[in-house]
Amino acid sequence: MPVYQATASAPVNIACIKYWGKRDTKLILPTNSSLSVTLDQDNLRATTTSRADPKFEQDQLWLNGKVDEIKPGGRLATCIAEMKKLRAQVESGSPNEPKLAEFKLHISSFNNFPTAAGLASSAAGFAALVASLAALYQLPTSPSELSRIARQGSGSACRSLFGGFVAWEKGTAADGSDSLAVEVAPREHWPDIHALICVVSDDKKGTSSTTGMQRTVETSTLLEHRIKHVVPERMRAISEAIKARDFDTFARITMQDSNQFHSVALDTDPPIFYLNDVSRAIIALIIEYNRVSVEAGGKLKAAYTYDAGPNAVIYTLKENVKEIVSLIVKYFPQTDGFKDTFGLFGSTGVGEGGVVEGFNVNVAKKFEVGAVKGLIHTRVGDGPRVLGNEEALLGADGLPT
Ligand code: DP6
Repeated sequence: MPVYQATASAPVNIACIKYWGKRDTKLILPTNSSLSVTLDQDNLRATTTSRADPKFEQDQLWLNGKVDEIKPGGRLATCIAEMKKLRAQVESGSPNEPKLAEFKLHISSFNNFPTAAGLASSAAGFAALVASLAALYQLPTSPSELSRIARQGSGSACRSLFGGFVAWEKGTAADGSDSLAVEVAPREHWPDIHALICVVSDDKKGTSSTTGMQRTVETSTLLEHRIKHVVPERMRAISEAIKARDFDTFARITMQDSNQFHSVALDTDPPIFYLNDVSRAIIALIIEYNRVSVEAGGKLKAAYTYDAGPNAVIYTLKENVKEIVSLIVKYFPQTDGFKDTFGLFGSTGVGEGGVVEGFNVNVAKKFEVGAVKGLIHTRVGDGPRVLGNEEALLGADGLPT
């Protein structure tokens, strides 16, 4: 009996135009379209192996080696059921295909993110799940169609089905058939977009995206304005900026949209605060860094953006990464130094960091070691990858390795 198994990896994505609010909580249909940059899987990824076997007694999933319950009717169960439905369609059209849709599944998933990084892993996780099942079931399905299924696991996951620059079109259909991800541009179009993730220390448990956004939908009057009058124009303008490789416009809109997302969070009753003093100090540093450039006749060189937590993601062009790492390290001394994955600093390392000429050092205070507990340098990356059996996360016995 052949082994029916496939392994895939999928990337993280970080939005420039934020998804915040659902018009349908079961189907996960958003109140506005959103747009993100897919980050490189060479640095951050979720990997998933799926196996179908008539001997398995139930669908089972392990996340980082631990059993993760598949609640009936829950998000995981929905994604798995939708994928089985697509497989059943393939089988009904070709009677010689093995009846994999009827077999139970074992699924093992692993995130390579540094522990305690506090990075949202659900987007990469659901995208890897859907990609591995699509490979296992040999589905002739397009990434956009798969994104419609990943969306039902976690909204932002639909954008991880593509590499490069990705829009999630909110759609209008009540059944969600037109709420899916589309590619705005592949990574090859603008490979110089790099990202620096500043992992910010946080002791308190924040409000989850799912809970927070629903509270915003129910109580914020500002959200209505954002959805109707702000996001549609920003989606158009940032897509154009990406196509024209216009970093100045890309950066301006990205920062404006992060600010507005955190404004609607604050406009929620009771208010939601995701940024802390460290997050705000990073904003001040990026604003000052950009001011120096603009006053010298240049353009914006960096853009900050924040999701539902205090971590900063700074988008910039490759040529500026060194300056920005130096700047962050100067104000936020690192315990273990900076992991220089791209070899920016050579053998001397980043040292104590530093600022560019003309920078007003008083815009922020220097923080204690550990305030920013990690810096991850990555860049725009590709979409899900189907991997070989040597990367499988299930052993011969069908259990996690
Ligand atoms: C702030 O996709 O995590 O990161 O659909 O409820 O699973 P659910 O929410 P999720 O929300 C992400 C919100 C965000 C913005 C974004 O990624 O667009």
